[in-house]
Formats: sequence, structure tokens, C-alpha cells
Amino acid sequence: MDNAKIAFFDSKPYDMEVFKTLNEKHGYEIRFYKNHLNIENSILANGFDVVCVFVNDSLDKEMIDILYGYGVKLVALRCAGFNNVDLKAAQGKLRVVRVPAYSPHAVAEYNAALILTLNRKIHRAYYRTRDLNFALSGLMGFDLFGKCAGIIGTGKIGKVLVRILKGFGMEVLLFDKYPDEAFALEAGARYVGLDEIFRGSDIISLNCPLTKETEYMINAATIDMMKKGVMLINTGRGKLINTKDLIEGLKDGKIGSAGLDVYEEEGNYFYEDHSDRLLPDDVLARLLTFNNVIITSHQGFFTREALTNIATTTLDNIKEYFLNPEKEKYPNEVCYKCQ
Ligand code: NAI
Repeated sequence: MDNAKIAFFDSKPYDMEVFKTLNEKHGYEIRFYKNHLNIENSILANGFDVVCVFVNDSLDKEMIDILYGYGVKLVALRCAGFNNVDLKAAQGKLRVVRVPAYSPHAVAEYNAALILTLNRKIHRAYYRTRDLNFALSGLMGFDLFGKCAGIIGTGKIGKVLVRILKGFGMEVLLFDKYPDEAFALEAGARYVGLDEIFRGSDIISLNCPLTKETEYMINAATIDMMKKGVMLINTGRGKLINTKDLIEGLKDGKIGSAGLDVYEEEGNYFYEDHSDRLLPDDVLARLLTFNNVIITSHQGFFTREALTNIATTTLDNIKEYFLNPEKEKYPNEVCYKCQ
């Protein structure tokens, strides 16, 4: 089906550029909408075969029923995570495909960038020297060499990160629900229990998906177990961390620094310019006051290579569906029964 109609939500100029170019060989009719998909604007999907969405477009049961009623057949996620889709509600109504990997290097390198920036306080030094303040007080970091990093989630991104951190000469502890012992052996790292990650790590990095099990895995109790001054990095999903507990940990110095590319309420803010408005979120406002916290708006994936891979796989996923709409399972499909 070459003339499939795609309603593309949360589109940014950079998405449009790469999708338009790569769609030349597919010839799909793509309508780009700037806004997130929400109940009020869901009518925009009426008559489309495919709804193409990103990380902060929420497809709960109500939305799925609406889209199904409009004749939408396929949800094409432009991301790896699918926590924003109610797969149970989608069962038998909409097929859901995603981009399982677009560049683990992009995110893992970004993790490393957050670690280096926070540790050596480059974000603060940058502003100081601009103000002709060349003093070093307050900017002291620590050698990564010989320190211990704990990686929670050793999938595609976690594994690349482990190799990067081993390159710095760090000891690396691993935790995963499904450990890959062969990888650990080859990388010179070792799987341990979560407790040991929390108690033994100087840097903890969250690289697992958001699930019922992992939601708020960083909370007052687990922060209490951590080394004083620990660095916490989260490029996974915001809700892996109970942000209010994190703030308490930062206030009492237990958390030495935090690099957050995701935030539990990010859907209200990230990817948009809010600079001419007041910030109504007091928790985010408090987080932004700490000079040992770096918050970025879910940009870990944002490299040229990753964007190209996202567009290529998304369009291929759509093609795969229309080649055989009755196929039992598509390679990049996510569904309630098969997870
Ligand atoms: P992946 O699916 O390759 O790896 C995830 C790993 O987490 C797997 O090894 C899995 O066994 C493990 N896991 C699952 N449940 C777990 C649990 N309860 N405890 C510990 N480990 C568990 O995924 P990938 O590509 O490495 O991505 C990881 C996460 O990074 C994604 O789920 C997504 O939320 C986030 N992400 C963030 C991006 C950003 O721009 N900040 C971009 C891409 C992904």
C-alpha cells in the first residue's frame, strides 16, 4: 500500500526534514502535526491508517479506542520505549511497532558526557570564565580511574556504556533482570544484586526500561543505601526516580550530583520552548536550583545518525505492516501477549 496515510504527531523541523527525504522512496502521504496527540486534537487522526508518535504522546485506553474508531490500524512509535502505550487496550484493535535500536552509541555517549560534565563541573566553569571568573574553588572533581560505576540495565545502551567506562579504567558493577554473563566476562565487569549496586557505586546509571517493577526504583529507601556523594545518571525514563526523594537526597548531600535527561513530568515541558512563561512545576523548579544537577530535555538520542535510523526503521515498519496486515508478528512489534 503505497498511498498509506500517516498522521505524524509531535513533529519538529528536524523530524520533518529527515522523514520527508527518506519517504521519497516510499511515497506515503504524511501529514505533520506540531502538537502532541491528545484527546482534544485526536480528530486529526480521523481517516489516517497510521498514527506516528514519540515518547511523550500518551496512548491510553481512551485514546486507543478513539483511534480505532477513526479507522487507524497501526501505531508507529518513533522511539524504543513503549511505556506510553496501553498495550492491553491496543490488543485486537491497533498493531504497535517501535524502533528498538537507533543508536545505542548516541545515548551511551550522552551518559558519558553527563558524567564528565558533572564530575569536572564544566557547566559551571563555562559560565565562570565568560564572567572573567578564573577561580577554581568549587570545581574540584575526582578521577574516574579506579572508581566504581553501577549500571542498571545492560541492554544495548548499557553495554556500550560499560565499554566506555571500562575505557576510563573504572570498576563496573552490573544489574539486569536478564544478566548476560558472557558479555560481563568479555567486558571485565560483573553482575551483582541491586543492593550491591546501590551500596558500592560511586556513579549509578539507569539504563533500564520503565516498567511496574522499575518505577521509582530510586526512592528514599534505596538512596539511603547509597554511598555519600554518589552521582546519579538517568537517561532511561523519568519515573525510574522518585523526584521528591531525589531532591531530599540532594539537599542532605547524600546524592553528590545528578544528570537527568528525563523527568517524570517531562511530557508537560520537554521539547518545547517555555522561556516566556512561569514554571508551574515546583518540583522541577527546585531541581533546577541545584548547581550539581544537570537537566536536559530527553536529548540523549539526538544525533544525526540516530535520527536517520529512527526515520528509516519507522518507514520500514510501516511498509512491513502494509505488505501483510494480517501477519502474526512483525519484527519490531510490541504487544501485550508477546512482551
Ligand atoms: P534494551 O531493551 O536493549 O535494554 C534494556 C535492558 O534493561 C535489558 O537488558 C533488560 O533485560 C533490562 N531490564 C528490564 N527490566 C529490568 C529490571 N526490572 N531491572 C533491571 N534491568 C531490567 O534497551 P536500550 O536500548 O538499552 O534502552 C534502555 C532504555 O533507555 C529504554 O528503555 C529507554 O527507556 C531509554 N532510552 C532513552 C533515550 C534517551 O534519549 N534518553 C533513547 C533511547 C532509549
